[in-house]
Amino acid sequence: MNILGIETSCDDTSAAVYNGEALLSNVISTQLIHQKFGGVVPELASRSHIQLVLPVVRQALADAGMAKEALDGIAVTYGPGLAGALLVGLSAAKGLAMTLDVPLVGVNHLEGHLFANKLAHADLTPPFVVLLVSGGHTQLVHVKDWGDYTVMGRTRDDAAGEAFDKVAKLLGLGYPGGPLIEKRARNGNPKSVRFPRAYLDKDKFDFSFSGLKTAVMQHVRKLEADVVQQELDNLCASFQAAVTDVLVYKTIRAAQAVKVDTIAVGGGVAVNGALQAQMRLEAESRKLRCFVPPPAFCTDNGAMIACAGHHYLQAGKISPLSLGPLPSLNL
Ligand code: KG4
Ligand code: ZN
Repeated sequence: MNILGIETSCDDTSAAVYNGEALLSNVISTQLIHQKFGGVVPELASRSHIQLVLPVVRQALADAGMAKEALDGIAVTYGPGLAGALLVGLSAAKGLAMTLDVPLVGVNHLEGHLFANKLAHADLTPPFVVLLVSGGHTQLVHVKDWGDYTVMGRTRDDAAGEAFDKVAKLLGLGYPGGPLIEKRARNGNPKSVRFPRAYLDKDKFDFSFSGLKTAVMQHVRKLEADVVQQELDNLCASFQAAVTDVLVYKTIRAAQAVKVDTIAVGGGVAVNGALQAQMRLEAESRKLRCFVPPPAFCTDNGAMIACAGHHYLQAGKISPLSLGPLPSLNL
């Protein structure tokens, strides 16, 4: 079954073809226009998706060496995300499904990040605990089966990726903040500043990152501008350590709480090398298996949507053509 996956929930326009056994293509066009604004501008994102979505779909089909008539279904992200951005992907997907007379299936973007692990790791089977950590979300999910989830905890304020983006902005580094902070942090000492770790209730699995962002801001305000510049690497390393300590601690505790022997990570922040290294180390020392998809499957991509869509279409789940965007959709 050849499935086209379309993803337009934020600032990446992506399309991929997956046939249930192999990923045949995965085209991702990241909108660079937002960089100069220091964050995603929703109206500009929608307009860029309009320009990009059909060329990206055409390229995905060309890379797969496939005519559109060979598609058996269209999977598309319908939430959570920016309403206007989601609408563009949905409109393209519905148009294709109608023209080709094939089923449409709406995919939850968060479930897409989860399925990125299924796509990347054939040996990953439920039950496991996944940390979904991106620019818009930070949550711990008990995956009892594909499609059967319990959300164990989520952020009460900022998402971890949002904290990376906001701290990068206040340090004058640019957008998106995650990769820029990680790069500076490689040359810094993570112990140079002891920023607060918000464990909240140590036995619960909710997160909070807004206090950490404020702590970095207050610390920086006390320093002269040239000292901030000299200390940038150390500040980035110290901030990154405060985020990863909490993410790793809660993920391990969550796995122990529901008695699973496997953890997985998904979403844009999962690209972070320090987070991956610490997660693997802590998992290994407790005999837990740890899965992280390769970077192209961590940040937003059509492949994960095609994979999730394939799973549901195979199970007979079809969405109506009246499917609309759900910007605040939960898992
Ligand atoms: O999953 P994603 O592409 O989009 C959302 O669904 O939000 O995640 C984007 C987020 C951004 O906040 C970005 O700063 C963060 O992922 N990110 C990283 C890294 N690469 C991307 N955060 C930390 N370290 C990275 N290397
Ligand atoms: Zn995402």
